[in-house]
Amino acid sequence: MMLEISGLSAGYGKAIALENLNLQIKAGELVTVLGPNGAGKSTLLKVISRAISSQGQLQFEGHSLHDYSTEQVVGLGICHCPEGRRLFPELTVAKNLQLGAYLRRDKAAVAADMDRVLALFPILAEREHQIVSTLSGGQQQMVAIGRALMGGPKLLLLDEPSVGIAHRLKLEIFSAIRQICDSGVAILMAEQDAQSALHIADRAYVLEHGHVAQEGEAKALASDDRIRKIYLGIG
Ligand SMILES: Nc1ncnc2c1ncn2[C@@H]1O[C@H](COP(=O)(O)OP(=O)(O)OP(=O)(O)O)[C@@H](O)[C@H]1O
Ligand SMILES: [Mg+2]
Repeated sequence: MMLEISGLSAGYGKAIALENLNLQIKAGELVTVLGPNGAGKSTLLKVISRAISSQGQLQFEGHSLHDYSTEQVVGLGICHCPEGRRLFPELTVAKNLQLGAYLRRDKAAVAADMDRVLALFPILAEREHQIVSTLSGGQQQMVAIGRALMGGPKLLLLDEPSVGIAHRLKLEIFSAIRQICDSGVAILMAEQDAQSALHIADRAYVLEHGHVAQEGEAKALASDDRIRKIYLGIG
């Protein structure tokens, strides 16, 4: 297993957000985390990238992540594309992308990754010198994903990449996410759009009140009428 989580708990002060959660990711897998607002999806990603602390087992390639800071986790190969994108709106596309690589010293590999990001999102190649605040929401999401890729991840954490984005760009973004995975990067993606997420994912976990309510192969969950109705809210 690349990522092995068991008995994980986390919260904010006295409020518990994750309780006794178990989850695994194999190298090269695309795993999606579904569930309603407040289920704990973002908290799970924040725990993995060490933005908040937790109790329980949290192993990445044999390292206990509890011993690592947010910066050190990036060094291990875990890059987080957070909810709300957190870009530098007054800087250009190119500058925002370069900032994703600020901890890396391998200049040739960074340049190769920049080429890869611009090939994945051709519109960003056209808009390299544009100020990010003037891009559309979907284009900004591409910059956010691209910036996380510039960290050189083995595991990419994506928090609701499709939220608030027009349908056409959404399809483009989901297809790019599948391509990133097929190029060998494991992905853990939180999503509200269960239908689209299950379409590209290998496996899925459905969270409810901070614990795993359902898990399985994405295809199996997507074709189970009971699960669709009760857990995914799809007709
Ligand atoms: N900074 C915070 N301070 C206090 N409570 C928080 C904080 N962030 C999240 N919570 C609480 O933790 C729980 C889990 O929130 P989380 O953001 O992980 O849910 P989510 O599944 O990502 O929801 P959404 O789909 O709305 O993004 C919620 O009850 C939420 O109110
Ligand atoms: Mg969230």
